[in-house]
Amino acid sequence: MSAGADGSGGAAAAARSREGSPAEDGFVPSALGTREHWDAVYERELHTFREYGDTGEIWFGEESMNRLIRWMQKHKIPLDASVLDIGTGNGVFLIELAKFGFSNITGIDYSPSAIQLSGSIIEKEGLSNIKLKVEDFLNLSTKLSEFHICVDKGTFDAISLNPDSAIEKRKQYVKSLSRVLKVKGFFLITSCNWTKEELMNEFSEGFEFFEELPTPKFSFGGRSGNSVAALVFQKT
Ligand SMILES: C[S@@+](CC[C@H](N)C(=O)[O-])C[C@H]1O[C@@H](n2cnc3c(N)ncnc32)[C@H](O)[C@@H]1O
Repeated sequence: MSAGADGSGGAAAAARSREGSPAEDGFVPSALGTREHWDAVYERELHTFREYGDTGEIWFGEESMNRLIRWMQKHKIPLDASVLDIGTGNGVFLIELAKFGFSNITGIDYSPSAIQLSGSIIEKEGLSNIKLKVEDFLNLSTKLSEFHICVDKGTFDAISLNPDSAIEKRKQYVKSLSRVLKVKGFFLITSCNWTKEELMNEFSEGFEFFEELPTPKFSFGGRSGNSVAALVFQKT
């Protein structure tokens, strides 16, 4: 298991896509925004898991998961609250939630290989009560709804880099989120492509900013900032 996305590795690659020739929203479209990319990533990771038992990359590192679980503890989120992990990837966050005692958790991803990989890892961990589905969050086919908590670690970032009408896709994301989350439900997003202010703007309709979670700071050339933003919104 590697933690290459804690401000380095894949997440940094996504962040770097701000450079070059930006589209009108400031991002350079990238393969990271396509399903083909993620299919290839998770096919490779599935192969590595079968060969060597390595579960693959933890996007934004271990601390990104601990930070979310600490927030749930602090706010006394009941262990039977329904939690949806949007773009679950290898499903490692679902496993952390299950180990912590959460009993009503669902992971979706549009990459069938990601769902196969997360299913294999979950099975190896001996956890049976985690629901997994191949779902495109921008085109939800089933009646996923009424979640108490939705979590996104890197998925909105990936969608923002889609070479094909990313602005529309972001709007669709907000609509889908509104559809799956209960009124007063919480949305926890971790992003390396968007600042706190930008995220507050993206999720200004139908959601209220609730809290910012502390993330590591960097300083460079006399300026300082955060390479990762972790925010909580509440559906109004
Ligand atoms: C940066 S990875 C993060 C994976 C995981 N959340 C983590 O923290 O390790 C982005 C994930 O979003 C998934 N994804 C991207 N667009 C999606 C969409 N429209 N619907 C569902 N999943 C999507 C990708 O397949 C990939 O697993």
